Amino acid sequence: MVDPSAQGWRSRLRPNYRGDRRLVADPFDLIVEAAIVQSRVREVFTPHQPIQPGYMLAGRGAEINRIVQVLNTPGQHALLYGDRGVGKSSLANVATYAAHQATMLPYYVKRCDHTDTFESIFREPLAAAGVDVQRVEYTAQETKTAKTEAKLFDAVGVEREQQRSSTSTYRPEGLIGAADAAQHLAQLTGFMLIDELDVVEDQATRRKIAELIKLLSDTSAPFKLLLVGIAETAADLTDGHKSVQRSLRETKLHRMSVDELRSIVRAGADALRLRFEDDVTAEIARLSAGYPHFTHLLALKCAEHAIRLREDVITSAALPLAMTTAVEDAEGTLRHQYAESIRSASTSYREVLVAAASLDTDEFTVAQLRTAAQGRNITNALSRLSSDGGPTVLRRLSRGVYRFTDPRMRSYIRIIEPF
Ligand SMILES: Nc1ncnc2c1ncn2[C@@H]1O[C@H](COP(=O)(O)OP(=O)(O)OP(=O)(O)O)[C@@H](O)[C@H]1O
Ligand SMILES: [Mg+2]
Repeated sequence: MVDPSAQGWRSRLRPNYRGDRRLVADPFDLIVEAAIVQSRVREVFTPHQPIQPGYMLAGRGAEINRIVQVLNTPGQHALLYGDRGVGKSSLANVATYAAHQATMLPYYVKRCDHTDTFESIFREPLAAAGVDVQRVEYTAQETKTAKTEAKLFDAVGVEREQQRSSTSTYRPEGLIGAADAAQHLAQLTGFMLIDELDVVEDQATRRKIAELIKLLSDTSAPFKLLLVGIAETAADLTDGHKSVQRSLRETKLHRMSVDELRSIVRAGADALRLRFEDDVTAEIARLSAGYPHFTHLLALKCAEHAIRLREDVITSAALPLAMTTAVEDAEGTLRHQYAESIRSASTSYREVLVAAASLDTDEFTVAQLRTAAQGRNITNALSRLSSDGGPTVLRRLSRGVYRFTDPRMRSYIRIIEPF
């Protein structure tokens, strides 16, 4: 008998349309893939994209309410900030949509990238106010006159003049000032969500946005902004511009509670008509360490596995495989930073990081770490892992106090090094 696996094939016994089980060659696992796509599990558990406007969030009711209130209060604008991956964009999407539903006012959404400038960020609402930033440019015409000597066959042999003219179009940077923009935008009524503001590298752009908010606020303009970005302090996003602070209501988004994370799994399971056993849900919430991204990722992998096996109950037997595949799918920066950190021959680096990941607080002291590391000597590894020349996976905040540089690392380590 031919052994398909010996030929490099992956084959399975699958029922054909009459229900008979037959050996079907499926080298790329496409039959399972089709079943997964059909189940819509990837639209329910979405680790790689924010929750879209109009969809429900787990928890976050108080934050949404606060942002909607701010957007509906004359003279106030909103700022939402927090760690990477904590759920800012999801919350901002849902809050902006809720504000729109409550008022039926239009809203604009701009997700920034590092090339954005003040003009590109506000292009759409400015266009609605009648300003086309792409046409803000001027044309210069230059005429050069040069004397040329008459050449070979010129009988007269006198000097002649030659004229060359050229036209250039300039679009000077930063042509629209904050005051100009405020004047136009104040004619609009509605909201604008500016997400991923932290990636805008140009400091002048952030400063101009802060000035714009101050100006809109001073005139009680009905055009309201919601700024969103990764930051440790709100001032990081407005380039420390002090005068804006009175007009900007800040919300710091914290990590999600275990109960909120569990409710993500339960709601998804209900939508898919699957059942996650309680211990699996609890373990997914613990591994996620407050980050909904990992909850979605682990729940997705578990659900895909169940669909593959044609089962509708997810037991703890599904978790090890889900964790392995989740680690492979995790963001490259986390994988590289962790691999780099533990490359040393000494196992103490890994031990320090696993101990730090077992703690539940963002910041921890050396004493807490030592207890978590069961009294092992951690001093050298700790200073190396947080030193400038090292992999800087940990950051020293003050004498004897540390945190993970990327706070999602705690969850990544819990998944890759189960304890
Ligand atoms: N309240 C919530 N309920 C359910 N899922 C959530 C919630 N908040 C976030 N998520 C999920 O968590 C993941 C990360 O969310 P999101 O992209 O909103 O975070 P972020 O803080 O904007 O991330 P980044 O810092 O990378 O921009 C996404 O998979 C999203 O679907
Ligand atoms: Mg985001």
